[in-house]
Amino acid sequence: MAKFIIRGGKPLNGEIAISGAKNAALPMLAASLLTKERIVYHNVPQLLDIFTIKKLLLKLGVNMSETDPLIVQAERITNHCAPYELVRTMRASILVLGPLLAREGKACVSLPGGCAIGARPVDLHLRGLSEMGADIVLEKGYIKAKAKYLKGTEIYLDIPTVTGTENLMMAATLAKGETVLKNAAREPEVVALAKMLKDMGAEIKGEGTDTIVIKGVEGLSGTICSIIPDRIEAGTYMVAVAITGGRARFKNCCLEHLGAVIKKLKEAGVKITKVSNGVEILAPKEIKSTDVTTLPYPGFPTDMQAQFMALMCLSNGVSVITERIFENRFMHVLELKRMGADIKIDGASAVVRGVPKLMGAPVVATDLRASASLVLAGLAAEGITEVDRIYHLDRGYEKMELKLKALGAEIERVAV
Ligand code: EPU
Repeated sequence: MAKFIIRGGKPLNGEIAISGAKNAALPMLAASLLTKERIVYHNVPQLLDIFTIKKLLLKLGVNMSETDPLIVQAERITNHCAPYELVRTMRASILVLGPLLAREGKACVSLPGGCAIGARPVDLHLRGLSEMGADIVLEKGYIKAKAKYLKGTEIYLDIPTVTGTENLMMAATLAKGETVLKNAAREPEVVALAKMLKDMGAEIKGEGTDTIVIKGVEGLSGTICSIIPDRIEAGTYMVAVAITGGRARFKNCCLEHLGAVIKKLKEAGVKITKVSNGVEILAPKEIKSTDVTTLPYPGFPTDMQAQFMALMCLSNGVSVITERIFENRFMHVLELKRMGADIKIDGASAVVRGVPKLMGAPVVATDLRASASLVLAGLAAEGITEVDRIYHLDRGYEKMELKLKALGAEIERVAV
C-alpha cells in the first residue's frame, strides 16, 4: 500500500502529455478475442486496470508481447472463464463476455458485485445477448452463456450503458444478420472501439449516435490501432491547473471529446486555448461558481464530477452539483469536508458553498475519481494532505505524481 503526501499551495506551470484513455483501451483489448490474427496497439497507458485485463486475456490463452507497442494475438482461446478474483478487482472484465460468446459460442464470467459508486448491474448486457439468441444462466456467482451462433436483432437499451453498448457491438460483429442497438452510448470510447472493429473488417454504422447498426460478418482480421487520448485525465489536470492558479500546456489532448467539461471550466473562469499539438490552460484570478449535472455523453461526464466539485469548493459562490449516472458517487464529499469544504448533500445533488481556502488533512477515498478530487484539493490546500489508498489512482492515472511534479507540484509517493 502507498499514499501520496502533498504540500499544497503551489501554482502548477509547465507542460505534460496526456496518456491513452483507460476506458478506450479496455474494450479495444477485449476486442482482440474476436480474431485469430495479430493486433498491434499503440499508446496503451500503463495502468493497473490495463494490467488486469492483460492478465485476464493471458488466462484465456491469448499471446501478448510485453513491448510498446503492445502486440496481442488470440490465435486459440484455451479457457472461457473470467474468474471472480479478476472481475472483483475490475468490473470492466465483463467486456470479454460479448467477444467470447461471439467467437467461441460459450463464455463464463464472474458476475460483478456491487461497487463503491453504485449497484452497477449488468442486466442490460445480458438481456441484449439473450435477445441475440444466447442461453444465459447464473450459477454460483457466474454468468454462464452459450449460443450455437448469435443472431442479429433490434435491441433497445433502457439506459445508454457504455460497456453494455461496447459488449453488444463486439458480439454483433460476428452475429448472423443485422443488429440495431437503440439508445446506444455515444461516448468517444465507443466510437474508438467501432473504428477499430471496422478496421478489422466489421460492418458498423451510426457509432457516435444513439442508433448503431452492425451487420455481422464471417470473420475479422488483425489491425494496427492507437488508443485515443484520455479525456478524463485531461479534464482532471485542467482542474489541477485551475485550482492552483497556474498556467500549463497539455500535449496529445483531444478538445473535441471535452465539450461539456470545457464549457463548465470556462463558466468557472478558466481560459482554455487550442495551441499547436495541444491546449493551454490558464487559471482564473477568482473561481466562479457554476452548476453541473452529470449525463451520458455529450453531457458532463460523471467521471469528472468529483474533480469539478473540488474546484467548486474554492469558488466565489454556491454551486449545485447533480449526479445522474451513479447513485452513490459522493464518497469524496465527507473527505473534502475534512479539508474545510462546505458541502451539503440533498438527494442526488450536492450544494457546494465556496470557501476562501482548504486545509491539508489525511484523507482516503474509495474510488478512482473520488481519489483524484482529493489530490486536486490537496494541491490547492494550505499545508500537507495525505491521500491514502492510492491504488485507486493507479488504476486509472498513468504516472500521476510524475506528471504533477513535472508541473511543479510537491507530491511524493510513500510506502505505508
Ligand atoms: N446500468 C444498468 N444496467 C446495466 C448497465 C448499466 O442499470 O446493464 C446502469 C449503471 O448502474 C449506471 C448507468 O447504467 O447507473 C450507466 O452505467 P454504464 O454501464 O454506462 O457504466 P459502465 O459501462 O459500467 C463506464 C466507465 C465508467 C464510467 C461510466 C459512465 C469503462 C470501463 N467504465 O462504466 O468509468 O463512469 O461508463 O460514463 O468504460 C472510471 O473510469 O472511473 C469509471 C467508473
